[in-house]
Amino acid sequence: MDGQTDIPKAAEALTRGELVAFPTETVYGLGGDATNDAAVARVYAAKGRPSFNPLISHVPDAEAAFALGDFSEDAKKLAHAFWPGPLTLVVPRVAACPVSLLASAGLPTIAIRVPRHPVALTLLKIFGKPVVGPSANPSGRISPTTADHVRRTLSGKVSVILDGGPSKVGVESTVVGFLDGKPLLLRPGGIAKADIERGLGMPIDVQGHAARPHAPGQLASHYAPHAELRLNADAPQAGEAYLGFGPFHAHGPFTLSATGDLTEAAANLFRLLHDIDATGVARIAVAPIPHHGLGDAINDRLSRAAAPRDT
Ligand code: TXA
Ligand code: MG
Repeated sequence: MDGQTDIPKAAEALTRGELVAFPTETVYGLGGDATNDAAVARVYAAKGRPSFNPLISHVPDAEAAFALGDFSEDAKKLAHAFWPGPLTLVVPRVAACPVSLLASAGLPTIAIRVPRHPVALTLLKIFGKPVVGPSANPSGRISPTTADHVRRTLSGKVSVILDGGPSKVGVESTVVGFLDGKPLLLRPGGIAKADIERGLGMPIDVQGHAARPHAPGQLASHYAPHAELRLNADAPQAGEAYLGFGPFHAHGPFTLSATGDLTEAAANLFRLLHDIDATGVARIAVAPIPHHGLGDAINDRLSRAAAPRDT
């Protein structure tokens, strides 16, 4: 059942409450019928994800999103500016919201996204209902950016793996919450903070690390590879693989971007971490990554990956 391009077959599997993996422009998603509690529970089970981590509902267009959540004028502004694209909006659920409460993990809010990928959009249109889609990796492991990554870790747990080629953006969507009317950046991602601010026409606050997590998916070691990480390393030491970046820190085969292009680095990040992990090396030294543009999302993923493990 690997590498299918049969989208109607995937839609049928969703109708039966089964799980499918689908490509998006950010990372591959582990899809289930968002309106079916059992299917949503199966997604949590397949992920091995703590059940308090709420899921994103994927829909084919903004109209479908507006039927699920209560969008303020500012939230609508971002929806129209960036959808389809790597932006997730968290808004209050409408009373008649058909999405499983389990998908919201007990919160009165819902996370919604319109992905920019023809396979995902066709699947959503044919299926006709919202699809929950966490990244298609077991909880705590690197997010998948190819169908092959999904196949390696989840192949026994999904009915269909749709192959849409490598994910172009390579990091998850930016998550913006509108919880008490005011926008809050809950997770850095594929759209830079400055672009969100341009879309809104005002500055946006970032959820503080000390604050109660609005995005509880942000467990510290959520993105961990098997190998240990050493960040801001100018060069590898004995026994380390080197994840390079830019003209001055590009030693060896695992380079995020030789020219120092942060967008290229984001697209390569998870694939290179997978590739390095596959060599069985115990430690990865990572070159310094600048803190602007998509560098924020990359540094966020890397510092989570470097955080002490609880398992
Ligand atoms: O790019 C992406 O967003 C990918 C692709 C497949 O669409 N999906 C993804 O899903 O990254 P997931 O489940 O790995 O991350 C969802 C994020 C988590 O940080 C979660 O806590 C947050 O969205 N989230 C979901 N619902 C929320 C809610 N009601 N309130 C606050 N945060 C929420
Ligand atoms: Mg994830």
